[in-house]
Amino acid sequence: MAAPGGRAVLLRRVRVLGLSPVSRRYLYKKKWATTSPRIPATRLALHHFDTTYSLQLQELWPAVRAAMLCEQKYGALLNNFTSADLVAQQLELLGATDFVSEAARRDQCWQESAGVEAEKRKTLEGSGGDGPAVPAETSPLLRASVSSNIKCYTFPRGDISRFRPAWPDSLGILSYYLMDAASLLPVLALNVKPDDLVLDLCAAPGGKTLALLQTGACGYLAANDVSISRTKRLYHILNSYIPKKVREAVSVTSHDGRDWGELQRTTFHKVLVDVPCTTDRHSVMEEENNIFHKIRTKERQMLPMLQLQLLMAGILAAKPEGEVVYSTCSLSPLQNEHVVERAIDIAETQFNITVHVEDLSHFRMLFQDTFCFFSGCRLGELVLPHLTANFGPMYFCKLRRE
Ligand SMILES: C[S@@+](CC[C@H](N)C(=O)[O-])C[C@H]1O[C@@H](n2cnc3c(N)ncnc32)[C@H](O)[C@@H]1O
Repeated sequence: MAAPGGRAVLLRRVRVLGLSPVSRRYLYKKKWATTSPRIPATRLALHHFDTTYSLQLQELWPAVRAAMLCEQKYGALLNNFTSADLVAQQLELLGATDFVSEAARRDQCWQESAGVEAEKRKTLEGSGGDGPAVPAETSPLLRASVSSNIKCYTFPRGDISRFRPAWPDSLGILSYYLMDAASLLPVLALNVKPDDLVLDLCAAPGGKTLALLQTGACGYLAANDVSISRTKRLYHILNSYIPKKVREAVSVTSHDGRDWGELQRTTFHKVLVDVPCTTDRHSVMEEENNIFHKIRTKERQMLPMLQLQLLMAGILAAKPEGEVVYSTCSLSPLQNEHVVERAIDIAETQFNITVHVEDLSHFRMLFQDTFCFFSGCRLGELVLPHLTANFGPMYFCKLRRE
């Protein structure tokens, strides 16, 4: 039995607390978890990008946004370990061209015309017109691309044709690998030279590892990725594209890349640090494995710290005079230039290592027919997606250890 006057006491208490009494009949328990609408991660990503990138890219943002929401373009990285000449001919018949050798050819023309101009000037000034023309100064990229052996076919600007899946040769080796052609720029920037010891710190699923192997120049290649499942994909790519003998010279590991500076210091001539990032294009298009999911907020916020630690490990793993390329597929300056600036600062103050940023602005000129570059990067280069050249985003910055 209820205490006498119980309800009256309760009503008085409710009034004292400033609450209006509600009949028990109308009370209900809100079920937040099941009834509140779930905002898709892709929408959260787009909202986040609209807020930040519209400030960074200003009038360029609407076009970049539209491109990221459309189907991306692919390049066909030619596999030099199969009958590459035949495959190249077939791709050319489809109207595709190798953007790397096109750039090298263009560079050579510029160099030659610059040489002719210099010779003309010299003759006009009457300062020794008898000798041979002054050889044109070869740009670092020309040297890199000529020796790199990397060939990647793309359809011309504005052409949205797609490549058919690659086919295997008689030994089961696939003819080409379809990838975002802008992903090759960090590899070209690394400029692997014969017998270089190379580290690919965050290698899976392996597009850039494959490109590094196409150079035929790696004396030794260490391909690492912390994720065991993604490392399996890396193995799969190596098995599908690289003959056994070459594959055996690649060491695949699954360490936390942040520890690499402790594992193998001052060892490598070239280090690629292709870090995990907000993968902007994926984040606005795919719900699965989207870093903008609410439950991954902390992980997303911690990305610049992880990127900085990985870049520091890469710098420590490089030999003196060694070169490190840092890359992301994000437009975010917080994950790009800021990480590079912080790393340079930490290398100097905590490790007494001077790190230099190499100028890659000639990439913009050489590859302008294939990619859209952003001209407003403080450090490094950034490929912007565009409907007529829908590659990227791809940020890359080259550092040299003094
Ligand atoms: C952008 S992806 C690399 C793509 C790869 N370079 C390619 O071209 O195919 C970043 C990779 O970093 C790996 N990763 C994340 N944290 C890492 C860590 N602490 N150490 C090493 N790898 C890490 C992820 O598993 C992911 O595969």
